[in-house]
Amino acid sequence: MATKLKEKLGGLRHPVSLMKAGFDGLREGQFWKSMFRPGSIMTKGYQDSPRNRAYVVMNSVLYHLHPVKVKRHGIKLSYTLCLGGLTFFLFIFLTITGIFLMFFYRPATEVVYQDMVGLHTSVAFGQLVRNLHRWSAHLMVISVFLHMSRVFYTGSYKPPREFNWIVGVVLLLLTILLAFTGYLLPWDQLAVWAVTVGTQMGYESPLIGKEVSFVLLGGVQIGSETLIRWYTLHVLALPFVITIVIAVHFWRVRKDGGISGPL
Ligand code: HEM
Repeated sequence: MATKLKEKLGGLRHPVSLMKAGFDGLREGQFWKSMFRPGSIMTKGYQDSPRNRAYVVMNSVLYHLHPVKVKRHGIKLSYTLCLGGLTFFLFIFLTITGIFLMFFYRPATEVVYQDMVGLHTSVAFGQLVRNLHRWSAHLMVISVFLHMSRVFYTGSYKPPREFNWIVGVVLLLLTILLAFTGYLLPWDQLAVWAVTVGTQMGYESPLIGKEVSFVLLGGVQIGSETLIRWYTLHVLALPFVITIVIAVHFWRVRKDGGISGPL
């Protein structure tokens, strides 16, 4: 391959031609071919045709999540308002800002409030990232509700999308649970009393009220067991479950024939 490249480069003087020849050589090599399958837009000699466009989508790890063709109305902003996409974006953003916060947060009652104050006073961009996380959480609850309203308003819950509506209801509940479990983590007066009210509501459930409250609190009153329980739910258990349910939700959008048509 090196001699082939040398031969090619020999006759060329212009820097652009040299770069092009170098790039062509690279694309003919095994290294390039091992990464890009035949039909990829990155392969040499790619020609734009409907068939090749389909190959591009099918052969890319990222693109293959999308359909080869979409209906025109499906990408019309005025139809979906991109509210589902916005909710998903906020979830990703919350994950990234949440990971940042985890570096500075210890879920132990003796130190947690101190960590929260330290985030504002001694961590670079700490206050900014904390506020971005908080505001995005509020926005996600609003956007998921608006997305659900759009789906309802356009009648998109009707067959064949009724199962995806149910998946959506699970997503709505998970989003609310994520927001509520995060509420306790600052361990300030607002957090502690809000969770006291929430768990008291659980206590009032019929028949199993005592058990519900015990499971939520990790005891009979709010304390360090409650904090570690809610922390684990907030940073691990619920994000794990919601990620899987979101994947099912997206997969169903495609299997149900893409975005529904206008009324
Ligand atoms: C974490 C929460 C959620 C995320 C990330 C999400 C994401 C999405 C996305 C990206 C779409 C594609 C169309 C669009 O952007 O509007 C969609 C469609 C859909 N979503 Fe959601 N969604 C969520 C919650 C919900 C909820 C709460 C419901 C209803 C209870 C729901 C029901 C549906 C249905 C039925 C469709 C198909 C709509 C159509 O074909 O027009 N989703 N979702």
